[in-house]
Amino acid sequence: MNIRANTPSLDAFWMPFTANRQFKAAPRLLAAAEGMYYTSDDGRRVLDGTAGLWCVNAGHGRRRITEAVERQLSTLDFAPTFQMGHPVAFDFAQRLAAIAPGGEAAGLDRVFFTNSGSESVDTALKIAIAYQRAIGQGTRTRVIGRERGYHGVGFGGITVGGLVNNRRVFPLLPGADHLRHTHDPARNAFTKGGLPEHGAELADDLERLVALHGAETIAAVIVEPMAGSTGVLLPPKGYLEKLREIATRHGILLIFDEVITGFGRLGAPFATDYFGVTPDLVTTAKGITNGTIPMGAVFASRKMHDALMTGPEAAIELFHGYTYSGHPVACAAGIATLDIYAEEGLLTRAAELAPHWEEAMHSLRDLPNVVDIRTIGLVAGIELASRKDAIGARAYDVFVDCFNKGLLIRVTGDIIALSPPLIVEKGQIDDLASTLADALKRAA
Ligand SMILES: Cc1ncc(COP(=O)(O)O)c(C=O)c1O
Repeated sequence: MNIRANTPSLDAFWMPFTANRQFKAAPRLLAAAEGMYYTSDDGRRVLDGTAGLWCVNAGHGRRRITEAVERQLSTLDFAPTFQMGHPVAFDFAQRLAAIAPGGEAAGLDRVFFTNSGSESVDTALKIAIAYQRAIGQGTRTRVIGRERGYHGVGFGGITVGGLVNNRRVFPLLPGADHLRHTHDPARNAFTKGGLPEHGAELADDLERLVALHGAETIAAVIVEPMAGSTGVLLPPKGYLEKLREIATRHGILLIFDEVITGFGRLGAPFATDYFGVTPDLVTTAKGITNGTIPMGAVFASRKMHDALMTGPEAAIELFHGYTYSGHPVACAAGIATLDIYAEEGLLTRAAELAPHWEEAMHSLRDLPNVVDIRTIGLVAGIELASRKDAIGARAYDVFVDCFNKGLLIRVTGDIIALSPPLIVEKGQIDDLASTLADALKRAA
């Protein structure tokens, strides 16, 4: 297969989060995908160590999703959801509500559809502020995020996000503040068999921000229960529980950004289930349609939803939504995706594979420049020592080397992040570890 022959120029596509000039000088192109593997444009098989971009949880080329999409496209290609409806959006919302984070007890069974993780984040922040106003807490407009957090690229998301490169060029929403991040390799490096021991006290930062700003100004705090894009940071033992307790005590809503952790990544359907800590809002995207059609969803508590269902019945309760909220084709893809997850037990499969995965990843511990390894579910972060004056260069070399040897990994700075599709077999985990080990040796 050679798509390059049919690609007259790479100039027009301004690529996202890419060093465009470097990439276009030596492009890496994927032309096809099936199961656990991509095929590169020059016909090589490439093991998908990243589920695309943390999204293809059921593996590539799932016929059931393709057929559902084809059927939906030829039945009802598009229908508006502003003051109109179509059955498939209601069906999908109901299906999601049935597996909502935290189960029935959590009551997070009201679903607002978006088209991406970034939109889910902005939607959740807006719902939080609107809810506070609806219950007479209109002074609560401040949003709190966390250093090193990634919440997409909308203005809301970069405001609460904590990655400097995503923020420094752009103006941000006023009044936001941040908790410190929880990365503490000095105390927690190479933690195995569970969450890091040290750092629960960092949740007390929320108390400090309350003391600084006044609880009555704070609408919500948003965190990734496991921070993915910054390089896989696990919550220290007791941290999320503490954050929940402090938020509740001060009337602050807790939002879990589960765009990565949602749909089985950690070995439970959601991180909310995995950690047993219940937030007020949960953002999702990515795995919701197995990456096939862009979509996201925010799970809101019934209590929050109902608080906004007031005023005259003819009045729109929440002035928010997207042309494609509940797009019929995305919903059809999502329903087929949930069917696959249920039939193949994929929302809990990562828990079965986690011990093998952890061993395979920790086998890389003594390789050159490896300074920390963190795993949870089917996620791993492998942190490398940076080259002098060249942050990210070593990991980038490993990334290119792996791709040339038939393995797709992801890097952020000098951290390698791995998250294979949840259908991965043990032998493929071993292949992944061995290809990566060789690349790490070559990058020494
Ligand atoms: C936790 C988290 N939130 C939000 C986003 C943004 O999602 P999207 O790229 O679909 O806008 C991401 C993407 O990686 C993410 O990891």
